[in-house]
Amino acid sequence: MKKFVKLVIDGKELTLPVIEGSEGEKAIDIRNLRQETGYITFDPGFGNSGTCKSAITYMDGEKGILRYRGVPIEQLAEHSTFVETAFLLIAGHLPTRKELTRTSVYLNDFSPLHENMKAFYQNYPPKAHPMGILSAMVNAMRSFYPELLDIEEDMNKTYLRLISKIRTMSAMAYRISLGEKVVYPRPDLCYCANFLNMMFDNVVIPYRIDDDMVRALNVFWILHADHEQNCSTTAVRVVGSGKVNIYSAISSGISALWGPLHGGANQAVINMLEEIHKDGMTVKECLSKAKDPNDPFRLYGFGHRVYKTFDPRAKIMKKMCDILLTKIKRKDPLLDIVQRLEEAALKDSYFKDKNLYPNVDFYSGIVLRAMGIPTNMFTVMFAIGRLPGWIAQWKEDVADPEMRISRPRQIYTGNQLQEYIPIGDRRYVPYPKNALNAWMVTSISSVDISRWVTSLK
Ligand code: CMC
Repeated sequence: MKKFVKLVIDGKELTLPVIEGSEGEKAIDIRNLRQETGYITFDPGFGNSGTCKSAITYMDGEKGILRYRGVPIEQLAEHSTFVETAFLLIAGHLPTRKELTRTSVYLNDFSPLHENMKAFYQNYPPKAHPMGILSAMVNAMRSFYPELLDIEEDMNKTYLRLISKIRTMSAMAYRISLGEKVVYPRPDLCYCANFLNMMFDNVVIPYRIDDDMVRALNVFWILHADHEQNCSTTAVRVVGSGKVNIYSAISSGISALWGPLHGGANQAVINMLEEIHKDGMTVKECLSKAKDPNDPFRLYGFGHRVYKTFDPRAKIMKKMCDILLTKIKRKDPLLDIVQRLEEAALKDSYFKDKNLYPNVDFYSGIVLRAMGIPTNMFTVMFAIGRLPGWIAQWKEDVADPEMRISRPRQIYTGNQLQEYIPIGDRRYVPYPKNALNAWMVTSISSVDISRWVTSLK
């Protein structure tokens, strides 16, 4: 039976329909709210707002549940491969053997990169962050490989081209950053083995493909493959809603992922652990800094908007740390620190009261280090993993007849109507003191100002 809620605004009663998801999640449909009442809702960060209906990923943050197309993440991590999981997310069902073979053939066919794209890398400054390069390269793909979106088969080719080439591009970015020869993809290797080979093969020391490492990479990417309406996925949907091409929408997702509160947290965690390791900070100091409301520092790898208990991905990642470190017979000094930090934070009333638990990024850096991945490539690894999710969400968005261009409202808090003041009549008004304004004032020198004034004349 259809449910409704009643809202009374300025004495007027409004009946709003309730929408219920397949797992019982409820939402109030406010699409007519402004038209009927003149009011809008206010929800910075969208913590209480559903922006779409989606059949891709289900999360229950209170119970620590994560499922792709209904399949629990734990089962996928145990039995699936990254390519199979990517298919599941995008197509909506697990592939048959024939579908999987066909997918692998396309991934292989699409793996080389247009030779002219290599020139991009060479022109970046040597210390450029690979996330910035990756986002620009994916955007540039539109010029090299126009989308084929007319029929389902062509559309699938565009998705697979993206999934295949992002791996080649990422490995290539790393090789070029080292000043080393690029390693091309090999047709005899599967998706994950091919990536490791492109990263680490060397004419002097050939890379030996290790099945355990390949399995670990599959699991790592499965765990990152989708996470419903997170920051980068929302960026993909919002940018895509303007009907821009898929490459540009995905490129915006890569940029959004880069931030340390989102995918960049995996790099931030390692920087934090290294700081403790080098005696720059103790575990106690680290927690005190994270708790200090006047310090922007956070305990990276802890907390989540949705999970109010253990992130199920973090549990699997933690197990992988042990397996990989045993395998490579190396003790990572950062593992000990990460464990001490976790133990101390979980006992601390600040973290307990706020339901802050380890998220996927707390242990993922240790796993990547065990694979030999350099720290500045960590967020790129997240991006490769998240790509199938972004594609699935973009695909769902463009096919949804209810979707409109994303265009939120705001509560305007600025000046009311003011007359234009001629420049000669203006009085100097000091900037209000805040970080951004202070930066603007100190970074604009009098020389800059005189240059602006000259250019205005
Ligand atoms: N360290 C210290 N305090 C924290 C942390 C943390 N890691 N996370 C949240 N808090 C505090 C926060 O200061 C706030 O306190 P108060 O209520 O006194 O103002 C309270 O907990 C609620 O936090 P919030 O920032 O309002 O929560 P949010 O849902 O907006 O943010 C988050 C979620 C993930 C951005 C945040 O927990 C965080 O910054 N964590 C560290 C960065 C990190 O690990 N990010 C990776 C997330 S998982 C990978 C992904 O999918 O992106």
